[in-house]
Amino acid sequence: MKLVHTLLLLLPFACAQKVTDIQGPAFISPLVGRTVSGVTGVVTAKTINGFWIAGQPVDDVRVSNGLNVFTTSASILNKVHIGDMVSLGGRVSEYHSYNSPNDLSLTELTNPTDFTILSSQHPVHPIVLGVDRIPPTRQLSALDISSGLDGFLSVPNNQTTQEHLNATLRPDKFGLDFWESLEGQLVAIPKPVALNFPTRFREIWIRGDWPVTGLNGRGGLTMTFGPDGVPDANPETIIVGSPLDGTKNPPVAVGALLSDIVGIVTYQFGFYAIRPLTAPVVLSSPSHEVSPTSLESSDEPCILTIGDYNVENLAPNSRHLSTIADHIVSLLGAPDLVFLQEVQDNSGPRNDGTVDANVTLGTLVATIKRVSGGVQYNFLDVAPIDKADGGQPGGNIRQAYLYRPGKLSLVSGSRHGGALDASIPIIDVDDSGEVGLSFNPGRIDPKNSAWEEARKPLVSAWQTNSGDRFFTVNVHFSSKSGSLSTQGNARPPVNGKVEQRTSQANVTASFVKSLLELDPTANIIVGGDFNEFVHTRSVFSSFSGVLFDINEASGIDPVERYTYAYDQNTEEIDHIFITDAIKNRGTEVEHIHVNNWASSIKSRASDHDPTVARVTVCDTGFRSSQQSWWMSLRTSAVDFLVRIFDHPLF
Ligand SMILES: *[C@@H]1O[C@H](CO)[C@@H](O)[C@H](O)[C@H]1NC(C)=O
Ligand SMILES: *[C@@H]1O[C@H](CO)[C@@H](O)[C@H](O)[C@H]1NC(C)=O
Ligand SMILES: *[C@@H]1O[C@H](CO)[C@@H](O)[C@H](O)[C@H]1NC(C)=O
Ligand SMILES: *[C@@H]1O[C@H](CO)[C@@H](O)[C@H](O)[C@H]1NC(C)=O
Repeated sequence: MKLVHTLLLLLPFACAQKVTDIQGPAFISPLVGRTVSGVTGVVTAKTINGFWIAGQPVDDVRVSNGLNVFTTSASILNKVHIGDMVSLGGRVSEYHSYNSPNDLSLTELTNPTDFTILSSQHPVHPIVLGVDRIPPTRQLSALDISSGLDGFLSVPNNQTTQEHLNATLRPDKFGLDFWESLEGQLVAIPKPVALNFPTRFREIWIRGDWPVTGLNGRGGLTMTFGPDGVPDANPETIIVGSPLDGTKNPPVAVGALLSDIVGIVTYQFGFYAIRPLTAPVVLSSPSHEVSPTSLESSDEPCILTIGDYNVENLAPNSRHLSTIADHIVSLLGAPDLVFLQEVQDNSGPRNDGTVDANVTLGTLVATIKRVSGGVQYNFLDVAPIDKADGGQPGGNIRQAYLYRPGKLSLVSGSRHGGALDASIPIIDVDDSGEVGLSFNPGRIDPKNSAWEEARKPLVSAWQTNSGDRFFTVNVHFSSKSGSLSTQGNARPPVNGKVEQRTSQANVTASFVKSLLELDPTANIIVGGDFNEFVHTRSVFSSFSGVLFDINEASGIDPVERYTYAYDQNTEEIDHIFITDAIKNRGTEVEHIHVNNWASSIKSRASDHDPTVARVTVCDTGFRSSQQSWWMSLRTSAVDFLVRIFDHPLF
């Protein structure tokens, strides 16, 4: 009985299998865990722990005819060469990285047996991407779009997993399916263009010579909305891993053109990747020159230029401090008001209980004065409770404002708030019913659990030289730490702390609403590092109808809306939002890509690009032209009378 059972189990395993039978049309091999024999194919590539073979293709684009053979056997590796037709058996496995349970698995043939070289010097032809096969350009997985209107950014995350479902592949529609259908294949990528700086492992995100979406003027791919209104994940990109021959990928900057790549499609470290046979070379790189903003300040009291810059852990002795000062002066045009994020305390990252940042900000202001030959800024911040706001331990990063005292001032008689004081909108008692803040500058609802381990928003009430008021909220929402690969098993992918950012947006919007309740025409600017894309609409739902994206109001091209590069995407996580009153007067905005267009990661001053906007925060322009109309009318009336009385007749 036992023998019969064993024989029955063994029988189907013994017959010859094709590579395409092993790969099958889905994410998981139909033969996973089984022992196969008589697998034949031509060797397409080789490395220190195995080689790849190409078997007979089938007429089904879902099914790869490439396969990785995992072995460290010297006797096999010494013998095998590219172009050999080989036959072997082994165990079909779906390799999973132990450390990263969210990774998709890689189909492999392990523990090879009966390895035989049948013949040699067969030609090896890669599949030419962009010609033989064209990647889809919008979505990564069917499971993302079925999870919500925000596609791969839908909330809640991890509603299901890719491999649990193991759906058959739809390579025409979904990026994960497309790259999975090429797993183990030798492919050629014509005209690859770098989409980001190399990772610290010298891997390079690229696009090839095929249709793409989100293409910006630099050559990168910006996160946008597709025509169906769903966020576009740019699945037409792939990361180039370490070359199989031991050469090293070159340093690159965004937009660099590389020599054509031939390599194997695999899955590693959370992503589909190409392992090139050898390292590509850089054929050309775009210029690293960045034009200064065209948005200049004006003498008109109501027209203000606003800068926004995450200055990446700025401390008094930071090497990048003078570069930041130079950017503020020569690229941002010394805006009237600058929103800063990530200003560290006076002792920088030293964890010594210091929380004040007046030396950090004072040094920046003095450096700006020196490099500009006289531009004078004042600064404002609220020091946090030591180590309560997250970020680099001991750094106590916070938001701050720099402002030009000749152009605007804090509303007079203001009480400076402390770390735990909640500033709320109030009707001024000593003024003609104007709206002010109980603490100015102050923090919004600092004890709210939404701000646990996070930066509390810095709110200020300002006065222009015409005596008009406006308000600013400078935010730095929780980072995306804890996020998982967008090409992993969890669908939609885990977007770290998305719930916290949603609550933070809600608290921010509630504050803005409470101010608008006192004055529906209040001029409010909410800016800073939100650590989130507007495409994650659920996070910003509380802003709806209250705060408006200045990009949208200014009508700038969606592909040019970016301040950051992460993996394959250029994207905007730093934003400026405005209330209706400001929007209705017209706005302008420019993102200054001084850091994303740098020649290398090391030469950047920050991981974020700064932004400059020009806004009109009061109606003085209208009033003054009205005034001048009255003035000129009066002048001409007086003139007329003078002339009449001067007339010889009188
Ligand atoms: C995955 O799907 C393939 C093709 O539909 C099927 O043959 C295989 O058995 C499935 N594997 C698992 C583990 O569900
Ligand atoms: C995703 O959800 C599955 C099923 O609930 C769970 O096993 C897995 O640990 C989750 N993954 C992550 C990364 O949260
Ligand atoms: C910083 O503040 C401290 C304490 O108020 C003061 O003694 C010091 O002079 C200030 N330094 C600068 C550079 O503003
Ligand atoms: C914030 O969230 C609460 C609870 O869900 C909701 O009632 C409130 O309307 C939200 N506030 C805003 C401004 O959207």
